[in-house]
Amino acid sequence: MSNPFTLLSSSSQCAARRGELRTLHGTVQTPVFMPVGTQATVKGVTPEQVRELGAEIILGNTYHLYLRPGHELIKKFGGLHRFMNWSGPILTDSGGFQIFSLQQLAKITEEGAAFKSHIDGSSLFLSPESAVAVQEDLGADIMMCLDTCIPYPADYRQAEEATELTSRWAARCRASQRVDGRLLFGIIQGGMYHDLRLRSLAALQEIGFDGYAIGGLSVGEPEELMYEICEATAAAMPAARARYLMGVGTPRNLVEAVYRGIDMFDCVMPTRNARNGMLFTSRGRLVIKNARYQDDPRPPDEECGCYTCRHYSRAYLRHLYQAREIMASVLMTIHNLSYYTGLMAAMRRAIEEDRFLEFYRDFNNATNAA
Ligand code: GUN
Ligand code: ZN
Repeated sequence: MSNPFTLLSSSSQCAARRGELRTLHGTVQTPVFMPVGTQATVKGVTPEQVRELGAEIILGNTYHLYLRPGHELIKKFGGLHRFMNWSGPILTDSGGFQIFSLQQLAKITEEGAAFKSHIDGSSLFLSPESAVAVQEDLGADIMMCLDTCIPYPADYRQAEEATELTSRWAARCRASQRVDGRLLFGIIQGGMYHDLRLRSLAALQEIGFDGYAIGGLSVGEPEELMYEICEATAAAMPAARARYLMGVGTPRNLVEAVYRGIDMFDCVMPTRNARNGMLFTSRGRLVIKNARYQDDPRPPDEECGCYTCRHYSRAYLRHLYQAREIMASVLMTIHNLSYYTGLMAAMRRAIEEDRFLEFYRDFNNATNAA
């Protein structure tokens, strides 16, 4: 298949890149943030709102949708796009990370991962082949290989074994693809070991994927170590292909990773933290339940033009949150998602105008000031 990624420009100051990723449901401008829609919904907002907030692509989870309501049902309803009324691109994660998160309940063999449903305790199995088949049934535009995410810390032998298994699974995923036009990304593992990261990447490149992801980061390691692995891995990844850092992260993490050459991100943080009363702003984080916002007439972020910031005070949002009103989650999700998409848009502009380093300094100054 032809390369779906076009590199539009590169920073002369750092590894940041500006690109475009073509999928069956449209083209995505990168660097991009993908809001997480685990259960076929981005929690708290309608698909129309997600789009209006500036998101071009969302992420769904194979593991959750396989358990409930089941990929056959979603297929019967015309796939995930029609089932959830989202007409833009969808990337689905493979289930590898969920199996990792539920390690106590999972048994990993050469063949695949056996695990117990966290919903009803029933026994289930995902192989590299069935993970791809489920993602094809869901109608994902971008599918992810089934992988094994390595915990932190892990000793070398343990990391090496899991990395080699991920490479063998990746080859089986590639070989089992049945539907044309869908993209399949390989996932680089290797724990915190540079040589394993490079070996993992080489094995994936040998198989050949439409894009490459870095998995197994933000699993409890110090942030500096995450940046170090991200930087070394990204530098070795093919410049012509999209680079996706999975499950990351905070606004600062995104800026640091774009600086190091990453094009795609997903994270539950903007949506989950919104529901927990934490807002991301141009001046840093704001915890809405804090008593000092009780009669604060200002919007959450004075530099933000989102629906929430145009119409509501911190005092009102705090009241809704304390009263456990649904609108607290809705309004704070709207703000956080627009903060994330706005941050990505600002980074794209800075790269286009070749002033990413200035952007990076201004971002650090503004968010440290609070
Ligand atoms: N999401 C965050 N990290 C990972 C990972 O290592 N693998 C997969 N499949 N998904 C992730
Ligand atoms: Zn706002």
